Amino acid sequence: MATTDQDDQLVTPWEVTAASQKGVDYDKLIKKFGSTKIEDSLIERIARLTGKPAHHLMRRGIIFSHRDVGLILDAYEKGKPFFLYTGRGPSSEAMHLGHLIPFVFTKYLQDVFDVPLVIQMTDDEKFLWKDMSVEEARRLASENAKDIIAFGFDKEKTSSPDFYKTILRVEKCVTVNQVKGIFGFNDSDCIGKISFPAIQAAPSFSCSFPQIFGGKKDIACLIPCAIDQDPYFRMTRDVAPRLGYPKPALLHSTFLPALQGAMTKMSASEASTSIYLTDSADDIRDKINKYAYSGGQSTVEEHRRMGGNVDVDVSYQYLTFFLEDDKKLAKIEKDYSSGAMLTGDLKKELISVVQQVVAEHQQRRQQVTEQMVQEFMTPRKLKYSY
Ligand code: TRP
Repeated sequence: MATTDQDDQLVTPWEVTAASQKGVDYDKLIKKFGSTKIEDSLIERIARLTGKPAHHLMRRGIIFSHRDVGLILDAYEKGKPFFLYTGRGPSSEAMHLGHLIPFVFTKYLQDVFDVPLVIQMTDDEKFLWKDMSVEEARRLASENAKDIIAFGFDKEKTSSPDFYKTILRVEKCVTVNQVKGIFGFNDSDCIGKISFPAIQAAPSFSCSFPQIFGGKKDIACLIPCAIDQDPYFRMTRDVAPRLGYPKPALLHSTFLPALQGAMTKMSASEASTSIYLTDSADDIRDKINKYAYSGGQSTVEEHRRMGGNVDVDVSYQYLTFFLEDDKKLAKIEKDYSSGAMLTGDLKKELISVVQQVVAEHQQRRQQVTEQMVQEFMTPRKLKYSY
């Protein structure tokens, strides 16, 4: 995992780099990881079963890969329960636009399927990997929890876990050799890192949540996450049958490119690559104008004649994530590619879309209190019975 191979792109939970401005070659990644491409038929099936239009992140191929989602849908069709699991490693005070994507998609899944959701906040992970005190990691987890609550999750359906017994069971099944192979750890890594994958694996199993599932260990799990988290869940799927639990299913998303271009992803630790959820309207305007990599030509005349390249243009790529209106998006693609629309106008569109997304988030986050965080964090029964 950790070594760059011949295909000169690198995707691990810690690092993402691509070989070209077009970004990561996701088809190649599907082959390498052994997951399955999401076909139109799967998207149609989800729309049919839920009676709701498929989410634009699925329609546009941003949620692009999966494992065993068909099995989850088979069970759902027969009225069998499942639950959702996702997470966040709180590495910075401010979350950025890229962090929004899996949560927006998870919220949609919770709304259309009406199932429980557990969200793991891995402050332990960030403590082990970063130069950060335990107390500071805790504090960031609580700050980030406010952002996550502000995404609109339903408290009757959302919990965070208590699961040491399950962690132990997973730890007993995985050898040091295996985690070295999967994650590239070496003998100089601390033992906390070596055992962390078991912690990320444990919430995939319903026995981790006796308060929610009444001790049942066979409730299926669906994990929406960015594709870089897949190594954790390959390991999880490998140990599941040995523990007598169902393998979790997965829905993978692509990465939101860095402002500077799709060679790498938006990263919280590099401020100039990111638009934070705490940025002001002016920050957003300035960052997009200054940094967003353009697929346009170098002069207006040339641009009018040759048109812009939406495949590498970061502003256009961001619109595919955040502009829900399909017709408007199609028109922008056409006009920018033909040269009728200039880079400045494209950026203007993006600026107003992102300013609105961020302003709405900031408004909702202001309403979130410490007490609400406490309530969400307390292990408890949800509105479902098993
Ligand atoms: N490792 C993830 C991060 O660094 C956090 C995480 C924990 C997670 N459990 C998860 C992400 C489940 C997706 C799904 O942000």
